[in-house]
Amino acid sequence: MFSHKTLEKNIGWLMVLTFVVVSIGGLVQIVPLFFQKSTTEPIEGLKPYDALQLTGRDIYIREGCYTCHSQMIRPFRAETERYGHFSVAGEFVYDRPFQWGSKRTGPDLHRVGGRYSDEWHYVHLMDPRSVVPESNMPSYFWLADAPADASTIQKKMTVLKNWAGHPYTDEEIAEAPAMLEGKTEMDALIAYLQVLGTSGPKSN
Ligand code: HEC
Repeated sequence: MFSHKTLEKNIGWLMVLTFVVVSIGGLVQIVPLFFQKSTTEPIEGLKPYDALQLTGRDIYIREGCYTCHSQMIRPFRAETERYGHFSVAGEFVYDRPFQWGSKRTGPDLHRVGGRYSDEWHYVHLMDPRSVVPESNMPSYFWLADAPADASTIQKKMTVLKNWAGHPYTDEEIAEAPAMLEGKTEMDALIAYLQVLGTSGPKSN
């Protein structure tokens, strides 16, 4: 008889059947997410990043801000009291790749948009310790002198439009380099930080 006891004594069968059971559990949890509206469709009012914000997002990734900052507020009281409404999937459909992360040397940044002024961000990025004396965040002063790179922006937006369905108009793509003219990498990064989480649900 193929009883549980026999199974527990036969490591080969135990491994195969454990794998089968765990796979079924995984499929039941994961597969529906690909088809649910709440995880595949943008929430109301969500716009794809404009040329300046998109450039800022690439600088965020290039500078490794994600190694210290997550962008995913968990649905726990301790998190929502501190950061605001928990993150919902539909807020991330224009994030490729998303910056959720789990390493929090610094605070979560998903709803940092609009929390501080542009000037605060500028001063903080130039020298974090001038506003938060105990901060161990590095300073990013060189961004203020680096012009925002406009040479690839149209290509990036076209790829996101054609291959990932981001709803950019031809006009937005045509005007993208002009939007970056005279802007620094610092301006772009701040524009990105200021839009983070702003279309999401508001906590009351
Ligand atoms: C070595 C870890 C580290 C890195 C890398 C880092 N940060 Fe920070 N960050 C922190 C810490 C710690 C704080 C909290 C103290 C402070 O405000 O400076 C912080 C705070 C912040 C805040 C204020 C958040 C709030 O809610 O008060 C912003 C905005 C921010 N960081 C943006 C960035 C950006 C943009 C980058 C990349 C250019 C970056 N950080 C890279 C550690 C880091």
